[in-house]
Amino acid sequence: MDASVVYADLNLTKTREPKRASPLSLPPDTCRCPRWHRLALKLGCAGLVLLVLSVIGLGVLVISLLQKTSVEKSGLDVQENNLTKTTESPAMLKCSKDWLTHRDKCIHFSQDTNIWKEGLVDCATKGGTLLLIQDQEELRFIKNSAKGKGESFWIGLNYTSPDENWRWINGSTLSSDVLQITGDAKENSCASVSKDKVTSESCASDNKWICQKKPKCVSETTCNDS
Ligand SMILES: *[C@@H]1O[C@H](CO)[C@@H](O)[C@H](O)[C@H]1NC(C)=O
Ligand SMILES: *[C@@H]1O[C@H](CO)[C@@H](O)[C@H](O)[C@H]1NC(C)=O
Ligand SMILES: *[C@@H]1O[C@H](CO)[C@@H](O)[C@H](O)[C@H]1NC(C)=O
Repeated sequence: MDASVVYADLNLTKTREPKRASPLSLPPDTCRCPRWHRLALKLGCAGLVLLVLSVIGLGVLVISLLQKTSVEKSGLDVQENNLTKTTESPAMLKCSKDWLTHRDKCIHFSQDTNIWKEGLVDCATKGGTLLLIQDQEELRFIKNSAKGKGESFWIGLNYTSPDENWRWINGSTLSSDVLQITGDAKENSCASVSKDKVTSESCASDNKWICQKKPKCVSETTCNDS
């Protein structure tokens, strides 16, 4: 009994199946599909491959363009660096410890006291000379710096006997619009500067002194011109 029922069921499904499956029974049909269908498929595949290739090609092109512009940009950066470097070069000049920086020179106030000639020698051993005062502004700076010290300092200016003139140690005669000297100008006179004046004194008296020298070059490449 049971078996017959099962059989009947199977029969039902069997009879139903072909009807429903009839639209699905295409697979065998596709094998026999028209030629244009296969051709279209192949063409489609080829098109897809071409598309992928062209996308890759475009990508490569875009990347190479980007690299090119970045190279040009970095070239510009280098040029800009060069520019800033050359404008920065004065900052590469440095004065040693214990030396003041004023404009384009380094200035040192001595601790020792001695006659003018010894000051001259000491500045030479420090790689400089006694101070040469270029203009009123520099004189003001020196007077201000001497303020806290309350003493007189030899500078590189003395009275030379043959031509009866005040002469800087670089050989130039003193021009009166840079500074006036108080005191007598006579044989063996040397100039000292204090907080308020420049004085003529005997070169054999004892004073401190002021040396000057050129700033040290921190970077060889930017300071060779001086
Ligand atoms: C920097 O500029 C100088 C001229 O000003 C030039 O000779 C030099 O090649 C430049 N250097 C660089 C890295 O651009
Ligand atoms: C010597 O020094 C004085 C004072 O700084 C300056 O006015 C003059 O031009 C200098 N002379 C030379 C030849 O450098
Ligand atoms: C004045 O200075 C010069 C060097 O500039 C020197 O030869 C001369 O002996 C000095 N005069 C005196 C009196 O020290």
